[in-house]
Amino acid sequence: MNGQLVALATCAHHDGFIAGDDEALARSLDALGYEIRRPCWDDPGVDWASFAAVLIRTTWDYQERLGEFLAWVEHVGARTRLFNPPEIVRANVDKRYMRLLAGAGVPTVPTAWIESCGGERAVRDALETLGTDSGVLKPVVGAGASGMLVFGAGEIEAAGVHADELVRAYGGVLVQPLLGSVRTRGELSLVLIDGACTHAVRKSPAPGEWRVQIEFGGAYEPETPGGGERDVAARAVRALCTGGAPLYARIDLVEVDGVGPAVIEAELVEPELFFAWAPEAGGALGRALSRRLGGQVPSGA
Ligand SMILES: Nc1ncnc2c1ncn2[C@@H]1O[C@H](COP(=O)(O)OP(=O)(O)O)[C@@H](O)[C@H]1O
Ligand SMILES: [Mg+2]
Repeated sequence: MNGQLVALATCAHHDGFIAGDDEALARSLDALGYEIRRPCWDDPGVDWASFAAVLIRTTWDYQERLGEFLAWVEHVGARTRLFNPPEIVRANVDKRYMRLLAGAGVPTVPTAWIESCGGERAVRDALETLGTDSGVLKPVVGAGASGMLVFGAGEIEAAGVHADELVRAYGGVLVQPLLGSVRTRGELSLVLIDGACTHAVRKSPAPGEWRVQIEFGGAYEPETPGGGERDVAARAVRALCTGGAPLYARIDLVEVDGVGPAVIEAELVEPELFFAWAPEAGGALGRALSRRLGGQVPSGA
């Protein structure tokens, strides 16, 4: 028992436990002698300096309280080791990081941007830029498909109203072509610990759905990623984390015609890491954290 405390930060509206995800990590940290706590990120009574490390895990209510959350990230980052660190979190809570990826030559889903209220006109301009007549709107800040609208060629007016609402609420909107491959092949999530891919999970939507998430009936299964997919994921992480590999990252890829595997999302804040489908990767995260904290990592732990 090394006795050091590690916090897996959660929120009040969640029981703080993703079966298999936090569980596998906690098992590994426990074997390495750490004591685990699951404080709510917004609990004012928590002394964050008492933890050797704080991992942002199930803080799933921050999208609606972004300013408060980012202030908390700075607060904790100034007092102990926060994973991932504040500069990575700040850059990753806003999907405008997709521009940085595209600029770095990493394949991404083609995206046009609406940054001020322009109604139907703005949506039409975005579609013209993308060379399509239907698409998807998403807020620059969001998770779990929140605020997403799928719209057809005859629904541009409604899309314009929705885009303006998202601009007012979040400051910006992504417009993307509706990718048929999401329906047929789903999305591949690659998990990287210290920059190395440990495992991947394919998420496929229920019939009639675009959203692959389990909450919307999506099915998940483990998959060994191909070399091309690993390469795109590793390049995405390198482009986003120029200060060195993050403790953990998840890169979601979809197939784009004429491009191949392309990043639809890079999750560096509070990704579900799918340890239920690869429990040994929870051990890899525990060992990686322990190494960063200067702990001994016995072989076989
Ligand atoms: N351009 C798109 N074409 C088809 N489906 C999409 C597209 N963008 C998003 N989706 C679906 O919506 C889900 C949520 O979108 P995503 O960009 O991952 O945002 P978040 O997970 O942060 O809400 C995706 O997992 C996918 O199932
Ligand atoms: Mg997503």
